[in-house]
Amino acid sequence: MEESVEKNAPLSRFTTFRIGGPAERLVHPRNVEEAISVLSREGQVFILGGGSNILVSDEGVRGVTMRLSKFCADVEFSPAQGNKVIVKAQAGLSLTRLSGLAMRRGLSGLEFAYGIPGTLGGALAMNAGTREGEMKDIAVSVTVVTRDGAVKRLSGGECGFSYRSSGFADGDAIVECELALRRDDDARIRERMRKGWEARKASQPLDKPSAGSIFKNPAGNFAGRLIEAVGLKGYCVGGAMVSEKHANFIVNTGGASAGDVLAVIKEAERRVYETSGVRLEREIKLVGRFDE
Ligand code: EPU
Repeated sequence: MEESVEKNAPLSRFTTFRIGGPAERLVHPRNVEEAISVLSREGQVFILGGGSNILVSDEGVRGVTMRLSKFCADVEFSPAQGNKVIVKAQAGLSLTRLSGLAMRRGLSGLEFAYGIPGTLGGALAMNAGTREGEMKDIAVSVTVVTRDGAVKRLSGGECGFSYRSSGFADGDAIVECELALRRDDDARIRERMRKGWEARKASQPLDKPSAGSIFKNPAGNFAGRLIEAVGLKGYCVGGAMVSEKHANFIVNTGGASAGDVLAVIKEAERRVYETSGVRLEREIKLVGRFDE
């Protein structure tokens, strides 16, 4: 075994919520080849990307957790074909870092991604996006390792992308992708990024630990609006609080447990359902064991 393995490693340092119990075994592969060998050897592995869209249980995660980080973050820009450039990048690369690299090369398509926390792999798995764009718009191919260790390359159309979701099989690990970008003026790209970022800074509590939007927007409505309407802004359980700035964010005001966050989530689900009949669908993924 080449890659480094930590035992009982607290995951709170790797989640944007700053919450999460220990991983029984936390594996840090040094490159994608090692990641693939861990996946084929272990079968069931929890893959930790940027830790930005998850709530890890206070008990932690049993078995193997694999952290795809800067070691699985190579990126390569193909020569331009007309206006189009294909970028090939590995799953551990930060989405914001990639959007910055693209901007500096005068490549458009990733402006929406600037400032979204998380890795490329995680962003593809959930089809991350904003109203300005989503991963689906630029994904040309995605390479996954299946639970039995086979490496499979899917075209963008085969990934089953829809609003904040994808059709990758449970247990598929995303290791690499190709994205299609277009040449554009870098000042214009920078300006679009700045605008998106400013808008988000004005409406979202980006200065506090959170996991981004907790719920998906229901058809024809907004989760934030529904949660605000039931009077939950500022509602707290322990250290978890519905943000005063944006009601679809739960912030960790200090020392929140995963149990606190789940209690707030359930209260929002219950009150919104009782008041408006809408069943909110969670955008964040619960990892590990929870008493629901
Ligand atoms: N609203 C309220 N109360 C609130 C929050 C929002 O009434 O507390 C209302 C706003 O006034 C607005 C509407 O709800 O009319 C939508 O709010 P906003 O413009 O903030 O966007 P959003 O739909 O809540 C979505 C994404 C964000 C993304 C932004 C900007 C989802 C679930 N969320 O938020 O994505 O940054 O648009 O493009 O689709 C994420 O997915 O983690 C995320 C942060």
